[in-house]
Amino acid sequence: MCGIIGYVGIENSVPKLIDGLKALEYRGYDSAGIAVFTDGGITTVKAKGRIANIEELLKKSYSALSSSCGIGHTRWATHGEPSDINSHPHGTERLRLVHNGIIENYIVLKKELMDLGYTFESETDTEIASKLVDLNYKETSDCFAAVKKSLEKLQGSYALGIIFKDVPGKIFATRKDSPLIIAVSESGNFIASDIPAVLKYTNKYYQLEQGEIAIVEKDKVTVYGLDGQIIEKKLCVADWDIDAAEKGGWDHFMIKEINEEPDSIIKTIRPRVVNGLPNLQLEELSDEKLASFKNITMVACGTAMHAGLIGKTAIERLARIPVKVEIASEFRYKNPIITKDDLVIIISQSGETADTLAALRLAKERGAYTLAIVNVAGSSIAREADSTLYTWAGPEIAVASTKAYTVQISVMYLIAVKLALSVGKITEEEAKNHMRILLEHTPVACEQALLLNDECKRIADKYKDSHDLFFIGRGIDYDIAVEASLKLKEISYIHSEAYAAGELKHGTISLITTGTPVIAVCTEDELYDKMISNIKEVKARGAKVIMICKKGAKGADDVADDIFYIPELEDGLYMPIPAMTVLQLISYYTSVLLDLDVDKPRNLAKSVTVE
Ligand code: M6R
Repeated sequence: MCGIIGYVGIENSVPKLIDGLKALEYRGYDSAGIAVFTDGGITTVKAKGRIANIEELLKKSYSALSSSCGIGHTRWATHGEPSDINSHPHGTERLRLVHNGIIENYIVLKKELMDLGYTFESETDTEIASKLVDLNYKETSDCFAAVKKSLEKLQGSYALGIIFKDVPGKIFATRKDSPLIIAVSESGNFIASDIPAVLKYTNKYYQLEQGEIAIVEKDKVTVYGLDGQIIEKKLCVADWDIDAAEKGGWDHFMIKEINEEPDSIIKTIRPRVVNGLPNLQLEELSDEKLASFKNITMVACGTAMHAGLIGKTAIERLARIPVKVEIASEFRYKNPIITKDDLVIIISQSGETADTLAALRLAKERGAYTLAIVNVAGSSIAREADSTLYTWAGPEIAVASTKAYTVQISVMYLIAVKLALSVGKITEEEAKNHMRILLEHTPVACEQALLLNDECKRIADKYKDSHDLFFIGRGIDYDIAVEASLKLKEISYIHSEAYAAGELKHGTISLITTGTPVIAVCTEDELYDKMISNIKEVKARGAKVIMICKKGAKGADDVADDIFYIPELEDGLYMPIPAMTVLQLISYYTSVLLDLDVDKPRNLAKSVTVE
């Protein structure tokens, strides 16, 4: 979604803003812009499309543009189509403002401002916010007071960066329900919507909390709390380095991130296995407390929600505790039945997904214990949950989630084994065996799955021109199929669906015609024969079947057109790890061979900070 960057310091802000915008590209955007102080005024350069368009404009018309202070923005359209005019920064002669989020009461505010004589050129809610600040500035002649007064009227979610013509060298920043950090370096200070935007320059930052207002200057950052008093902020240090946020020789972030999966599993799980047993390293969540939960609900969106599906299967099989998996955007509006005896597990790579964050708040309101599984340190979800278990996958830049999913499911296994042990469903010996598989065998299986790279590319080439592609599976293989289907469609734009294989003949088998590719995930031993029957059913209707199965799977040659023999793990529960690596690679190469924008698929954003 939208991204914010701002810099004030002793160096030229323009290249820094452009670098920041480029680092924010992964979030998804359709236009971009910057505004910088120039002799007695503010110069704005903005355009629809890629950041390259801004660079082109700078080269052609603003080659001498240099300024020690400015703000920049990548826009992912919500109110009004992508266009030059709708791009940020917005503002008036007196100020420029960039905004992430949605101003919900923009219609009312627009009317009030129009009654006072304001006119509007864009269709955005942001322009309205900028003019509200302008009005308050006119009335108070005080930038800080103008921002503070505006916040009293703005409803919705926002992270704002504002510069005022009259006070060069100062950036005003504030936020509510949309992330914003203030990063500090020797040569100046930044505002940014996330860490990768500034990693090239610094990894030290302050987290801005709800309603706080920061005034950022070249050698000073002052943060005011809700009561208007200056507050001391804790300096955070991101342990991500710039290499982790760059491609490092790979063609795309997605393939780099798939290849980082084995390592990410180890980094995430190793510190949580003590004496061979699972240890969540959460003092507040004792074994007794864990054993007391009557129900578990997983809440998340997209791929993270699919990780929850694996979590459900793992917890129900091992611990025999009932688990529901809910889509966050549905959960928050359905008056969910959640009580204080429940554990609500919130899963999010970014930790900022608006619906997931709202679901977390609702679960807390209902008295449930909330446990967040999050990849981004210090993100809103991580800070608000009762307990947080970080997945240490490092920055995930490609919009399509890969390594984050792998570590999310690794943590699901860890929790499942821990719960099973806490409620006495497995012995310590059994728990140790699970931890051995998870920590020692799954990264190896994942490495071996990566060796199937060329075969994945060959299959992608063979089926890349398909109109539709179906995934089928049973049990945990169905959980895999659901995520595999999302991965394929989001980056290849090929229509794809996942079906529980036994459900095909209840309607969907009518979609199968001659040549329709069907990827059959068959790793569950107990359901294997059933899967073979389902494969025969689609074969009889002309499908081309690609089987994902274990080495030596009997009868595979007789029914499949193409077969992937994936590395076997001693407990089938863990097979989603190598299976998904292969399926992610197939999606990746399909997108590459179709010459699509793999890391930034159309219409999508990495971090969905609006509902
Ligand atoms: O940051 P989150 O994990 O909360 O994001 C949730 C979804 O938007 C995300 O998993 C999305 O479905 C993936 N990018 C798809 O690959």
